[in-house]
Amino acid sequence: MTSMRKKSFWGVLLIAVATIVPVSLMFGAQGQQSPNASDIADGMRLYQQKGNCQACHGWAGDGRKTDSQMPDGANLRDTKLNRAALVTTIKCGRLNSQMPAFDKFAYSDGRCYGKKETDLKAYPTRMPDPPATLQQREIDLIVDFLMTKVVGKGPMDRAKCVEFWGSETDACKEFSK
Ligand code: HEC
Repeated sequence: MTSMRKKSFWGVLLIAVATIVPVSLMFGAQGQQSPNASDIADGMRLYQQKGNCQACHGWAGDGRKTDSQMPDGANLRDTKLNRAALVTTIKCGRLNSQMPAFDKFAYSDGRCYGKKETDLKAYPTRMPDPPATLQQREIDLIVDFLMTKVVGKGPMDRAKCVEFWGSETDACKEFSK
């Protein structure tokens, strides 16, 4: 009886370890893992469509906005911000500028720069409403895309354009080389 119990104890322990170890490795690695191609493609789509970042920052992130009515966004290819700062800027926008905050609760609980909605009135330039709010996961995907294909990549040229879109596209015709 006792040895049966002992055996099943070790059995359960073995199963627990066999499950917990790979699962925790999976989650532990997630933060550092370099993004895969499908994450980057998702991030690019969010940048172009839901976030409409390109309206102000341009499809290449170089500040050549696709909508002339929109504010001039920064050149993200030249940004000095690291990953964490990129995430914060997208979530919280930038105070006293036209960079919108994409976190739905950015200014409702002090999570952004310790400010609330009423504090924002103090700034001469009000952040515009974002085209859509984004989940943390969506912001991470956009930053994956930016870090892989935009930040620090230098000015867009023909070769980079073809690489960016994955094939020769109309957008690349403007680059002679
Ligand atoms: C309505 C126009 C607009 C939209 C839409 C917009 N931005 Fe911006 N963004 C700006 C402006 C303007 C600035 C410059 C703010 C300043 O004066 O510092 C900026 C700044 C930034 C910066 C800081 C760059 C730096 O080096 O300091 C990042 C990062 C950024 N935007 C990312 C994004 C992303 C990603 C999206 C889409 C999810 C987005 N922006 C959507 C207008 C916009």
